[in-house]
Amino acid sequence: MMTQDLETVLIVEKIEKHICLLKLNRPKQLNALNNYLLGEIAEQVAKANEGDEIKCIVITGSNRVFAAGADINEMSNMDMQDLLFDQRSAYWQVISSSKKPIIAVVNGYAYGGGCELAMHADILIAGDNAKFAQPEIKLGIMPGAGGTQRLLHAVGKSLAMQMTLTGEPINAKQALSSGLISEICVPELSLERGLTIAKQITLQASVAVNLIKQSVNKAQDTDLSTGLAFERQAFCLLAATEDRQEGLAAFKEKRKPRYIGR
Ligand code: CAA
Repeated sequence: MMTQDLETVLIVEKIEKHICLLKLNRPKQLNALNNYLLGEIAEQVAKANEGDEIKCIVITGSNRVFAAGADINEMSNMDMQDLLFDQRSAYWQVISSSKKPIIAVVNGYAYGGGCELAMHADILIAGDNAKFAQPEIKLGIMPGAGGTQRLLHAVGKSLAMQMTLTGEPINAKQALSSGLISEICVPELSLERGLTIAKQITLQASVAVNLIKQSVNKAQDTDLSTGLAFERQAFCLLAATEDRQEGLAAFKEKRKPRYIGR
């Protein structure tokens, strides 16, 4: 733990041995992501990436709010120099380079940095009360953690432009139809649903999970032929794993596979 803040701004739980659950907990500030909270998230994501035990990370807020963005009070004291050299880019980098899949369970507001945090996840599910926005333009600024880049990949140019240039939110249904999220639940059941998806992932062969995550992400970062070449190489690489033999054998023997993560 960092020493700056004695508040538990991030509740960390290990669920069924292999899932790391991170709950944002600054309710009075609507989970605004100050440097300390973002640093804690990065620290826990880095920890979860050490070793084999944690196989999936779930990030959530409360049933009312995911996160209302960067902490505006903290940010307003920073000038250009501060912003250029602050820790936040490094924290975002840690989260985006997680090898373990991340699921975001979003209820209520996911605004600004909150929407950007959700978009760092590999799978986003949301309560039917969720609202996603990049409202920075209303503050005379712009998104700075993927809100113009990841959003475009997620929802396409027109909606990304509309959201970032007007700052107006979209609701859960619009987020689903545009491809930003993959499922809508009632808020009270959304975490349970997120954990169920996480559990399904933890039961799979870990090397395959890792390579699939890399390969799908590659599709966003590169042209089709480079992505296809990466996918093919990864597919062949898996032939060297014991889990591949086990998965195929289990199918033929009509039993559940027993993966060892190798
Ligand atoms: N930073 C700091 N405090 C925040 C905050 C934020 N981003 N968002 C809300 N709060 C605080 C409010 O100041 C308020 O505190 P007080 O009770 O002490 O006055 C408390 O949380 C509750 O907020 P509201 O009374 O405003 O709650 P509401 O339900 O009426 O409205 C809301 C909710 C629409 C999300 C509104 O709070 C809001 O618009 N917040 C700002 C959202 C925003 O602009 N986010 C982008 C920040 S910039 C950014 O994110 C850039 C980046 O990462 C690169």
